[in-house]
Amino acid sequence: MTANRIKEMTAEEAAALIKNEDVIGFSGFTPAGACKVIPTAIAKKAMAEHEAGRPFKVGVVTGASTGPSLDGALAKANAVLFRTPYQSNADLRKQINSGETRFFDMHLSLLPQYVRYGFLGKFNWAIVEACDVNDNGEITLTTSVGASPTFCDVADKIIVELNTYHPKALRGFHDIYLPDSPPNRKELRIFKADDRIGTEVVKVDPAKIVGYVVNHAPDEVAEFKESNPITQKIGENTARFLAGEIAAGRIPREFLPIQSGVGNIANAVLGALGANPEIPQFSLYSEVIQDSVIDLMDAGRIRFASGTSLTVTKDVMDRLYKDLSGYRSKILLRPQEISNSPELVRRLGIISINTALELDIFGNVNSTHVLGKNIMNGIGGSGDFTRNAYISIFTCPSVAKGGKISAIVPLCSHMDHSEHSVQVIITEQGIADLRGKGPVERARLIIENCANPDYRGELRDYLKASKDGHTPQTLKYSFAMHEKFLETGDMRGVKWDI
Ligand code: COA
Repeated sequence: MTANRIKEMTAEEAAALIKNEDVIGFSGFTPAGACKVIPTAIAKKAMAEHEAGRPFKVGVVTGASTGPSLDGALAKANAVLFRTPYQSNADLRKQINSGETRFFDMHLSLLPQYVRYGFLGKFNWAIVEACDVNDNGEITLTTSVGASPTFCDVADKIIVELNTYHPKALRGFHDIYLPDSPPNRKELRIFKADDRIGTEVVKVDPAKIVGYVVNHAPDEVAEFKESNPITQKIGENTARFLAGEIAAGRIPREFLPIQSGVGNIANAVLGALGANPEIPQFSLYSEVIQDSVIDLMDAGRIRFASGTSLTVTKDVMDRLYKDLSGYRSKILLRPQEISNSPELVRRLGIISINTALELDIFGNVNSTHVLGKNIMNGIGGSGDFTRNAYISIFTCPSVAKGGKISAIVPLCSHMDHSEHSVQVIITEQGIADLRGKGPVERARLIIENCANPDYRGELRDYLKASKDGHTPQTLKYSFAMHEKFLETGDMRGVKWDI
């Protein structure tokens, strides 16, 4: 630590500076690099203020989701005025779905530029986790970049949560670049996953840093669920599809960079790609670098990983920190507007693989809303990649909740990715390659190749009965499966009376 002029403070002293209705840009993209002790102290302050009969809520903007000490603590304290762009915390989700907390779900690549353009209003604070800060105003971030450089740039004041669990030697793992705003914006000169265009540190006016708070806690990354026969099969089908594309000459032999989504299914899919000998060693140009990426790197299957967060469980992090220099040439963390940049996704020819909650027989995808109304997490970066990918793939199990919900329905109850952007659908049942197909051909492929056999009959009957139009629909029955679930707790056995 080379900051002699920057004042050390306690988390409580930092929290005391925050006022009701302040807007805070916190570091954190997933629990990786998310602030911990300061938001927890702000949550305590909120509870004390509420007990004293005074209002206290803050606007919370981050890179993406965070951990229990940030979203969890603030939600439990009922201290969140509004929240964007993504979340995955159970308490916060409850508050959002009950209408208590205002949440707007955003494409993650757009967040930093929305902040910079002033679309989200004034930012009073940037509170960012760092492994080092110095008197020159150089902040070395920890395991995520997210939108932290932009928060530091626009906020009136900055507080650093200096986390000594993360070594200062992380300097060099980041590539910090802030694009100019239009009409002066330039091209991003990245042509390969490992090209660098920025600096190792976030550079700010040191006068804006009001202090730092020391912490020594690792990231609060939850363990992944073990892959099961369903996720294993989805992974194998994805690897089989991509190997077939290489053999057919539609993907170059040296392969293309992969973007892989978040969650258990994405983790299993990546593992399966690594295990398939027909898939060559590959690079990742993605958002989140999960456990399976490090495992595949160690096994020599992943050459390089560019992302905005290193979201790995503690054991993997410890392994990585034991040999940090070995990973220095293999990992790069960038701002989310660069990791998820549509310009770069299109240029690099990224193969995107994301997970759907639900999809319809015509190829529209719902990634976010259960039964069309309750948000799960958010769209995240899935739209940034899907819309611009070389090939966009969506994976999901054909059924959820023990078979009571079909992931494939006549019409999505909420739509995040339209049929125009979705090219391939993969479940444990099989693969539907939608490229170059019309709506009815797509529907037949999705029903026969991807739907669960328990639901194929109903879906076939719906398509047969809905005979009119370019995209045949019978609006009266489009949501009959959803309604059946709401009435009986099971989507099976819908009788179409069309
Ligand atoms: N209806 C209701 N619930 C459903 C469902 C459906 N059609 N499909 C899945 N679910 C439930 C599952 O049952 C599970 O619930 P549980 O935790 O209570 O068991 C939950 O959704 C998560 O499903 P899981 O099978 O564990 O998948 P996951 O961990 O891979 O997450 C998403 C799947 C879709 C929630 C997650 O990938 C996501 O939030 N995606 C959107 C953002 C995104 O794509 N980001 C990547 C960009 S880089």
